[in-house]
Amino acid sequence: MKAVAVIPGQKNSVHLRDVPKPSIDDIPGGRGVLVKVLRVGVDGTDREINNAEYGAPPAGDDFLIIGHESFGIVEQVGANVHEVKPGDFVVATVRRPGGSLYDRIGQYDMTTDDVYYERGINLRHGYLAEYYVDEPEYIVRVPKSCSEVGVLLEPMSVAEKGIVQAFEIQRRLKVWRPRRAAVLGSGTLGLLATMALRLRGLDVVTFGRTPRPYVNADLAEEVGAHYINTAEQSLTDASKELGPFDIMFEATGSSAVVFEAAENLAKNGILILSSVTGGGKKLEISADKINLDFVLGNKVMFGTVNANRDYFEIGARDLTQSLADYPGWAKKLLTHPVNGLENFAQAIDLLNNGKGVIKAFVNI
Ligand code: BGC
Ligand code: ZN
Repeated sequence: MKAVAVIPGQKNSVHLRDVPKPSIDDIPGGRGVLVKVLRVGVDGTDREINNAEYGAPPAGDDFLIIGHESFGIVEQVGANVHEVKPGDFVVATVRRPGGSLYDRIGQYDMTTDDVYYERGINLRHGYLAEYYVDEPEYIVRVPKSCSEVGVLLEPMSVAEKGIVQAFEIQRRLKVWRPRRAAVLGSGTLGLLATMALRLRGLDVVTFGRTPRPYVNADLAEEVGAHYINTAEQSLTDASKELGPFDIMFEATGSSAVVFEAAENLAKNGILILSSVTGGGKKLEISADKINLDFVLGNKVMFGTVNANRDYFEIGARDLTQSLADYPGWAKKLLTHPVNGLENFAQAIDLLNNGKGVIKAFVNI
C-alpha cells in the first residue's frame, strides 16, 4: 500500500513509498482492527518532523510514516474484538504505552518514562497511509453525525485534556466557579479550546496576532468569544479590561507568552501550557513579581501533552454537541483539503507557506 514517510534526521525527506499492507493478525489474540484511512490532518508537528527537528523512526526502520490526526472506517476486526465493527467511523489515539505505572493503568500520556511512543511522531508509524491496524484500546468511535469533522478529534483531544485536567486540579478549591477564560492563540487548537470552554459556559477571550479581517477571529466570535489582536491591544492591557482570567489556555506555540499569561492570571487561577517548543529561546522575566503573585494568589500553572482515550471520548462528545450549538462551525475549520496521498507535497507546502490555513488535511 501507499504511505507518506520521512527519513528522520534528514531535512525535507517527505516522500511517497510502498509498504506492506498491515493485517489484523499483526495484533495477537484476535484483537486486531484494520482501519481504512479516509482523512489525515497535518499540523506544525508534521512540519517540524519534515524539517528534521523532531521525530524518530520505529526500531528497525530508517523511515517514519507520518500523520497523527487520523479519521477512518473500520474494515475488518479480529475474532475477539467487540468494541468496534466494520463500518464504524473511528479515530486512533496517538500515544502508546511504555513501562511506567501510569502507562500500565491506561494513563500513558502521563508516562514518567524517558522514552515516549507516538504514532506518526516518535518511534511508531503513523496514519498517512491507506490502512493501519491497531488494538481496540486505541481506537475511538466517532458518531456518524460527526463524521464530516471527525478529523478534528485528535487536536480536539489536546484541548480537552488541558481543560479536563485543569478542572481536576482545581478540585483543590472545593468549589471553583471559573467565569473568565483566555485562550492564547487562535489556530486550530486555540479555536477548539475556545469552543470547548464556551460549551462549558465560560466567558472567553481569544487572543491572536492577526488583525481583522481574519476568519479565525470570526470563528471565535461565532461561538460567542471575544477576539483580541495582540498587535492592537496587549494581553496585559486587555486583561485590565476583561480579566484577570480564572483559566488560561496557552496554545500559541511560543514560550514567551507563558510569562505574560502568568502575570494576568486571577487569584486561585490556573494556566494550561500546551505548546511544544523545540527551540532554545531565553528571555528576561519579572521573576519576583510572578512568583510573589503565584504564592499570594494560590495560582497554578501546568503542562499537558496529548492524550489518552478518555480525552478523545470527551472530545467526540463535545464535537457532536458543537454541531447542535454552533451548526456548521466545526466544518469551517477544515479549510484546505488535499486530494490523494500522492499529493502529500501540497499539504506540506500549505504548512510552510499557506495563507488562511486553519486545518489542512489529506483525503485518501
Ligand atoms: C500531537 C500530540 C503530541 C504532541 C507532542 C502534537 O502535535 O498532536 O498528539 O503528543 O504533538 O509530540
Ligand atoms: Zn498534532
